[in-house]
Amino acid sequence: MILFENSSFYLETKNTSYVMRVLDNKVLSNAYYGKKIGRCNLNAFSLIRGIGYSPSIALEGKNVSPLMIPWEMPTYGQGNFGLPGISVIGADNRFVNELSYESYEIINGKPSIKGMPSFDTNVEDVQTLKITLRDKALNYRVILYYSVFEKEDVITRRTEIVNMTDEQILIKSASSAAIEFQSKKFQMTTLKGSWARERWIDTYDLHQGVNSVESRRGSSSHQLNPFMALSEKNTTEHMGDVYGFALVYSADFKISVEVNEVDSVRVIAGINPENFCWRLQAGESFETPECVLTYSADGFNGMSHNFHNLCRNHLGKCADKNVKHPIVINNWEATYFNFNDEKIIEFIKACKGLGIDTMVLDDGWFGHRDNDDSSLGDWFIDEKKFPNGLEKVIETCKSQGMNFGIWFEPEMISRDSDLFRAHPDWCIHTDLREPVESRTQLVLDYSRQEVVDYIFEVMDDFLSKNDISYVKWDMNRNITDNGSNWLGEYQGEFSHRNILGVYDLEKRLTEAHPDVFFEGCAGGGGRVDFGILYYMPQIWTSDDTDSIERLRIQYGTSLVYPPSTMSAHISAVPNHQTGRITPFKSRNDVAQMCNFGYELNVAKLPQKEIEQIPKQVEEHRGLEPLIQDGDYYRLLNPFTGKQCAWELVSEDKKKAYVMLAAVNIAGNDTSYYVKPRGLNPEFIYQINDTDIIADGETIMNVGIPVVEPLGEYETRTFYLTKI
Ligand code: GLA
Repeated sequence: MILFENSSFYLETKNTSYVMRVLDNKVLSNAYYGKKIGRCNLNAFSLIRGIGYSPSIALEGKNVSPLMIPWEMPTYGQGNFGLPGISVIGADNRFVNELSYESYEIINGKPSIKGMPSFDTNVEDVQTLKITLRDKALNYRVILYYSVFEKEDVITRRTEIVNMTDEQILIKSASSAAIEFQSKKFQMTTLKGSWARERWIDTYDLHQGVNSVESRRGSSSHQLNPFMALSEKNTTEHMGDVYGFALVYSADFKISVEVNEVDSVRVIAGINPENFCWRLQAGESFETPECVLTYSADGFNGMSHNFHNLCRNHLGKCADKNVKHPIVINNWEATYFNFNDEKIIEFIKACKGLGIDTMVLDDGWFGHRDNDDSSLGDWFIDEKKFPNGLEKVIETCKSQGMNFGIWFEPEMISRDSDLFRAHPDWCIHTDLREPVESRTQLVLDYSRQEVVDYIFEVMDDFLSKNDISYVKWDMNRNITDNGSNWLGEYQGEFSHRNILGVYDLEKRLTEAHPDVFFEGCAGGGGRVDFGILYYMPQIWTSDDTDSIERLRIQYGTSLVYPPSTMSAHISAVPNHQTGRITPFKSRNDVAQMCNFGYELNVAKLPQKEIEQIPKQVEEHRGLEPLIQDGDYYRLLNPFTGKQCAWELVSEDKKKAYVMLAAVNIAGNDTSYYVKPRGLNPEFIYQINDTDIIADGETIMNVGIPVVEPLGEYETRTFYLTKI
């Protein structure tokens, strides 16, 4: 619900209010964001005043400091010393900006963003507020879009900048959203990490100055996810105020949180201004990516539910109820590059009768790729490995009731490839410098339409000619040498244009092959964001397949992304990333919360483990409705405690599933309880097939007793069933 009354905008969701005021000097200010409140006039609650050693401006008959105004879209140069949300260099090269309120419009539905993924536009119960601001001196307009998702307690925001002059202007920074909270002592939570160690939860006190998460790697990155949360100090998983921010963007981003001397906390989220400068010709406009804002009074888990529900109800492929996530077996860790058709056929035959849906042939099937030094870009079957093409392999899959999937790395090019020999200038590079290699590969320049078109044609042709039902879309390095000759003196447009090219390819391929399931991957979890998830309903969460490592990775990822977007496989031991040896059961229990599969050679497993596979597959089929549509709860934190526990509760609350794992054990360890959440207090549940039978209220408050402490790397699962 959106309302404009007494110079105030009220944006309301089921449990939250977002209030803005147009001040009498035409500044658009934020008056409140948080738990739902009445629609009263918040003038009387304002903290705006003059302060020492500050410029002053006239407002409502007083002289006040710009530092004390909670700006809705701040600019730089008129006494507002904080970070700008919008920064434009005018036709005369001047860069003092000032935005004043001009008009508003409330529309039903949600306009789409040209060339970029965004949350659904065809939603009936969503309203969008458009507020137009104008810089009179530089003569450009800024349109702020607010789309209100009532049920999910989410507001998505984005910005459009319109050049009103007859000349060219330059955009130096174009944030998707900005907001300012007054008098707050927040903590900031981020998802940090590295390759094979993605999305660890990190919470710290904000300090005066700028605190930020960002990427300058051309992808949203393994290192810092495009997400950040602000919370009150005592907030827990299930209690307390949390504000979550996440971008629908897969390239260079920045979310900055600046605390000034009067404890105002300003958030600026959007494209990273570091690699960005965009020219805007007369009459042209620029649209930013979308940013999700959510508030929950129910702690971090409450925030996660809002993100999860939004993603599953309204994000492209993630919201498509016809999409079925297959159980796969992938040959990467089983063979690496060392395979041919015979070996793969043996690999497939070993899966007979296990119930697995799809075999995915990973890296190494094309060009002459026997290691990672060559062939990226040559998306043609390696005839040495597959003298008769893929037909026999696919036939073998089909004869066993399995589908066939395949790996691509569409954005890459190897120097040793026919594509590079034919088009040495198609890689990202700048004149006069040798481009930097990573994993002996270069990156294709997707800012060039001809490059995107070529890869589309090749992949489209391949997918049309072969019976392929699954594509794993990888991206195994970050971008360096950012630039493209055709951009001339406007190299600052490169990074954004490049990701627009990636989105263009993702859109065209997924639309041309609606029955193919696309899984995102970027060296595992290097591009886990709502932008990729719009086109691909799941992402290979991490290259780290060690189940103990995966506890933290999946637990952290769940802060923003629902289990239905993650994939996890049982792999061989000793684990290839850590050398750790964990029980087959633990590997199963940890992977079951995600889209499930195997990353090993079945033929090499002991018979008693092979016999477990059909049971694991059946277990997963039972859990699928909880993963796809249920609620996910984090119960015990593996970053701070000795155990990790999570829970899935079915939509109708008749079933719940709790997974408990030991992270650290000690001698003579204690017994304890694990407290499930989200049960129906009145339903009577039985736990596994034990004699613990009680109502939901009792089980949630007393907890499930763990009498015998878990051993090293042990896991235990509890099925709660309404009787
Ligand atoms: C990345 C992926 C792996 C595998 C390799 C192949 O690292 O995350 O799963 O596909 O590439 O090169």
